[in-house]
Amino acid sequence: RRDEAIALVRRGMTETPDFPEPGILFRDLSGLFADPEGLPVVGEALLTVHDGFGPFDAVAGVEARGFVLGTAAALAGGAGMLAVRKAGKLPGAVLTERYALEYGTAALEVHPDTLPAGSRVLVVDDVLATGGTLAATLRLIERAGWEVAGVAVVIELDGLDGRAALPDGVPVGALLTL
Ligand code: PRP
Repeated sequence: RRDEAIALVRRGMTETPDFPEPGILFRDLSGLFADPEGLPVVGEALLTVHDGFGPFDAVAGVEARGFVLGTAAALAGGAGMLAVRKAGKLPGAVLTERYALEYGTAALEVHPDTLPAGSRVLVVDDVLATGGTLAATLRLIERAGWEVAGVAVVIELDGLDGRAALPDGVPVGALLTL
């Protein structure tokens, strides 16, 4: 099943040099999302990229591509889906965490009432690059009073040391490393 998922990712991934800036090799999984087999197989495979996740109540997906994968993983795991939004999208008293991207800067937000206190959350995204996006997501989860079950990504980029940006002790798994 894991091998099948990796083959689907390789088939559905495009690699575009110098996008959105010179020197960046941009990986996009739109083809995987469009493949009828893609999301069910990869969503399920993400749940087993590390054996230390334990039980979880919700899967968090980071806007925008993480929404697609997070929803697929949530459905596969029988869990809820927590949408981690880019800044300015959510009404009311939100928590905000700023972060530096591989290109540019941004902020992520959640509403702390979305899940009960103590909920265990598995965080899913398409790519772990510098780790800034996921580190900000983990800070939001902690500040909201939830527990991080782990981090599961489809692609981990070698050489950027994104894992070092994440707290020690958090289980981190990737379907493939490029
Ligand atoms: C991309 C990707 C990850 C993040 C990885 O998202 O989907 O969320 O960058 O980079 P990092 O590890 O260096 O933080 P992007 O902000 O481009 O958003 P998108 O999903 O809306 O395209």
